[in-house]
Amino acid sequence: MIKSFSSLLYLTPLVLIFACTSGPPYHTASPNGSLELVFTMEEGIPRYQLSREGRALILPSRLGFEFKEAPPLGDGMAVAGITRRGVDEIWEQPWGEAREIRNHYNELKVTLEEPSVPGRTMDIVFRLFNDGLGFRYEWPEQEEMNRFEITGETTEFVLAGDYDSWWIPAYGRDRYEYLYKQSPVSAIDTVHTPFTMKTGNDLYLSIHEAALVDFASMTLARSGGTTLEADLVPWSDGVKVKAGAPHKSPWRTVQVADTPGGLITSYLVLNLNEPNRLDDLSWIEPGKYVGVWWEMHLGISTWGSGPNHGATTENAMRYIDFASKHGFDGVLVEGWNIGWDGNWLESGTGFSFTESYPDFDLEKVANYALDNGTRLIGHHETAGSIDNYERQMEEAFALYEKHGVRAVKTGYVDFGRDIERVTADGDTVDEWHHGQYMVNHFQRVTEVAAKHRIMINAHEPIKDTGLRRTWPNFVTREGARGQEYNSPQGGGNGPDHTVILPFTRMLAGPMDFTPGTFDLNGTGEYANNVPTTLAKQLALYVVIYSPLQMASDLPENYRANSEPFQFIKDVPADWEETLVLNGRIGEYVTILRKGRENGEWYLGSITGGVARSLEVPLTFLDPGREYVAEIYGDGPEADWKKNPMDIRITEETVDSETVMTMRLAPGGGQAVRFRPSDS
Ligand code: NOJ
Ligand code: CA
Repeated sequence: MIKSFSSLLYLTPLVLIFACTSGPPYHTASPNGSLELVFTMEEGIPRYQLSREGRALILPSRLGFEFKEAPPLGDGMAVAGITRRGVDEIWEQPWGEAREIRNHYNELKVTLEEPSVPGRTMDIVFRLFNDGLGFRYEWPEQEEMNRFEITGETTEFVLAGDYDSWWIPAYGRDRYEYLYKQSPVSAIDTVHTPFTMKTGNDLYLSIHEAALVDFASMTLARSGGTTLEADLVPWSDGVKVKAGAPHKSPWRTVQVADTPGGLITSYLVLNLNEPNRLDDLSWIEPGKYVGVWWEMHLGISTWGSGPNHGATTENAMRYIDFASKHGFDGVLVEGWNIGWDGNWLESGTGFSFTESYPDFDLEKVANYALDNGTRLIGHHETAGSIDNYERQMEEAFALYEKHGVRAVKTGYVDFGRDIERVTADGDTVDEWHHGQYMVNHFQRVTEVAAKHRIMINAHEPIKDTGLRRTWPNFVTREGARGQEYNSPQGGGNGPDHTVILPFTRMLAGPMDFTPGTFDLNGTGEYANNVPTTLAKQLALYVVIYSPLQMASDLPENYRANSEPFQFIKDVPADWEETLVLNGRIGEYVTILRKGRENGEWYLGSITGGVARSLEVPLTFLDPGREYVAEIYGDGPEADWKKNPMDIRITEETVDSETVMTMRLAPGGGQAVRFRPSDS
C-alpha cells in the first residue's frame, strides 16, 4: 500500500461551523479573506457572485440544469439548508510539478428543494480558496432522479468587465489543436477551457473544470455581452448527460491570480479532485524517452508497411541503442501494429492492437530494451474507432504488460464529430470527441491500463481536469498543438504559441509537447517549420511540464550536437517545486523547477517572436553556497528565422546574490542548470 501518497500529511479537523435554514444571501470568504462569494435566491432562482477585495469579478450568475423529461432545476427552488466547513491540509503528489500541495478552503453547501412535485433535491457546493472558486452540483439518491437526461446547464459566468482573453474555438475539426487567439470576451463565440482572461485592473482569471467524471465536458458559449454560459458537449442524440442519482457534476472552477504566473502555480484544480485510488504506485515512473516518431512526421519513413516502414525490429533496436547509451527511460515505437495501410484516418476499424507487422518482432524489441536498461513504450492509435479499441483493450494492455512495457501512448485522430460509437442495436453513430461517451471511454482506458500497471500518455485526449490525482497512471497527454505541427506538413505553430500555452492549456495539467528538435535550419530535404532557436528548444523542457518528456528528434541530430544535447540528458522530468519568476501571456515566461532526485534547480525562459532582455535575481539558491550555472543561451546572431542554431553554452559561478541577465533572441530562450560547486 503506497496510499500514503494521497493521505493527508496534516489536517485541521474539519470544522462544521453551522447548519441553518435562515434565508439567503449567504456570504463565504476565502481563508485569507480576499475572495468573497455571495449566494442569492430571488424568485426561486439560485445565483452566485464573486468579488476580490471588494471588486466584482463575476456578477450575479444563474445556476441550474434543464432536463429532457422533467422541469428544470434552478427555477422555483427553495433553500432547505446550508452547511459550512473549512479544510486546511497538505497532501503529497507521487510525481508532479510540486511535491507538497496545500488544500485550503472554506466550503458552503446549499441544499435546494423543489417545493412542489416532483420535489427533487440538488446540492450546490462552493469551495473558496485563496486562489479561486470551485463549485459543483450534487444530486443525492432520490427516486425522482433514478435516471435523468440533462439537456442543458444554465450555469452562467457573468463577467464584470469585457476582459482581454486567450482562447481556442470549441467544436472545431481539430479538437483542441488550434493556435490561441487573443480578443476581448465580447468577441468570442464558443470556446474550450481553460479559458484565460486579464481584467482591467491586472488580475488574471481562468475558467475550467475539475474532476470531469461521467459527464459531458464543458465549453463556454457567450450568450450576449460578457455573459458566458456552460455549454455541455452533446451526445449524437442531442442529450448532454445521461445519468442517475446519486451523481455529481464536475467542479466549475475560476482561478484568480495577481500575476499570470500565479495561475501556473495555482493547484486548485488538483485540489478539487479525489485522492489517489491506486494501491501500488511503484510502477509509475516519470522519465524521458526517444522514439520512432519524428522520422514519420518528416516523411523519412512510414507508419504503414512497405520499403520505408519505420517500425522495423532493426530500426527500433537502433533507437534502443541510442536510448541506452544516453540514459533514456523509454523508446516509443509507432506504426508497429497492423492497420496503418490505406486510409486509417478515415476509420480505425482495421487496427489490431495485438498483431505486429511481420518486420516488427515485439518480443525481441521489448526484451532488447529491457536488456539494455530501457523500456519499449507502446502505441495504440485508434483513429476514433472506439468500439474496435475497447474490444481489444484488455488483451492489448495484457500483451504489453507481459513484455515489460510500462507506458502506452494512445491516439484519437478524428475530425470534428467523428468518433465512431456502436450502439446496442449494432448501428454506428458519430459522437463528438469531448462528450460524455468519450469522457467515460478515457476513464475505462485509465482503469484497464492501471490493472496492467501501465501509464497512459493520450494524444487527441479529453482535456485534463486534474484526474491524475485520483488516477496517477494517466500521466500526461497532448491536447493542444504540439511539436508535430512544426513538421513539414504541420503548418507551424509560430513563435508565440509556447508563450501562451503555459497560461492556458497548461493550467489543465501536463502536456506531451515533444520538444527537442535540433535540426532547425529548415532548408534541407525534410524542411521543418520549428519557429524557435536551439536554446528555446532546451528551455521548453522546463517550461512545458510533462512527467514523460520526449527528446523527439532523430538520434543523428543529437549526435551531431552533443553539447546542447547534454541539457536534455540532465534535465529531470519530476519536480519538488515550481516557481514562476516572470511572464506575460503571449510574450515571455521564465519558470524555475527543483528536481526531486538531487534538488538541483533548472530554469527555462522563453520569448515569443520578440527579442528581450530579462533579469533574474538568483535568490532561490541556498545563501552562502556557490553554484555553477550551466547556461544554454541564444548566441549573438541567434534568430528563429535567420539563425536558429546559434547557441552559446557557458558556465558561470553564481550565488544567491547574483542577478542573472538573460538576452533572448527573437523566438529564443535560455535553459540553465544550477549545480552546487561542491557536489
Ligand atoms: C497524432 C499524434 O499527436 C502524433 O503524435 C502521432 O504520431 C500521430 N497521431 C499518429 O498516431
Ligand atoms: Ca495530435
